[in-house]
Amino acid sequence: MDELDLRTQDISTQTPSGASGFLLQSNPELQKLFFSPTENENPKVNEAKIRRLYLQAASQQWYAPQRINFDQEITLDDESRRIWQKFITIFYTLEKMGLNVIQNMMVKAVRKYKSEEMAFYLSAQTFDEARHVFAIESYLRKLGAPPKYQWRYHVLGQAASVGAFRVENWLFSTLFSENFASAFIRRARQANIDPIGNELCKYLLVDESRHLHFLHIVLPDIMDRLSMFGKAYVKAAQYFIMKFSTSVLEAVEKEATHVGIDRVAMLEEVFENVEKAYEGFGVSRDFLWFPKINPSRVSPTHRILASELSH
Ligand SMILES: [Fe+2]
Ligand SMILES: [Fe+2]
Repeated sequence: MDELDLRTQDISTQTPSGASGFLLQSNPELQKLFFSPTENENPKVNEAKIRRLYLQAASQQWYAPQRINFDQEITLDDESRRIWQKFITIFYTLEKMGLNVIQNMMVKAVRKYKSEEMAFYLSAQTFDEARHVFAIESYLRKLGAPPKYQWRYHVLGQAASVGAFRVENWLFSTLFSENFASAFIRRARQANIDPIGNELCKYLLVDESRHLHFLHIVLPDIMDRLSMFGKAYVKAAQYFIMKFSTSVLEAVEKEATHVGIDRVAMLEEVFENVEKAYEGFGVSRDFLWFPKINPSRVSPTHRILASELSH
């Protein structure tokens, strides 16, 4: 039997590529063929935009064993390695939770917004999350930590997908979690922990910004249709999720500083992006309750020591 060939064609993660990509640009007939949404009498979301995003997602797929060189050396001092194993285990848990939740919510979202284009797009996003979990699992093994789901964070996934407004609640929670993930990935890359992690972050970021793009397409329409009670419900659930995340981060601040991640700056960035997004949905700045970000408890001396140690 032939050996399994793990190499695949090189696919650009920047723009839709390949022969059909070029054809599309100058061929209105093909554009119509591929870009027109399936006929739907009463869509509750912008189907044309969602279809385009599906096409983009389909053209930006990547394959971890081919894209990321897992054969590189990871050299870290013992303390940094311990902390990084811990952080990536939390990140792995959140991604795995995201995968479970999207699998559970996809059908409900498609039914609720009567959009077949959403079925296309969310299937692609589900595979994105499966790819993330797979890649992070491999990275964890390289770091010397067996991938292990942390049940203490499970409550986040539940808070994001239960109750009367669970589809809305899930989508709004995703806005927070995707922003949170993006901020973490960007900062992890800046902290330059190891070459494998850096490559991984690069590919994750391409997908996570597409996931945010999807939310910016659908959430304004969803917000418009939400009743007063629905809005209050979403607001409370969002507060719980943000408060929980804020406390978790506060508890690990010293360790974060050790590996070069600034807890306060990261949270401020996340809240600012979430706030801007809500403003874009036409609700006032104070629609959301944001938990307080407590000032840093890490002394400047520790900060300097940590940055010297890790680099
Ligand atoms: Fe992800
Ligand atoms: Fe995502």
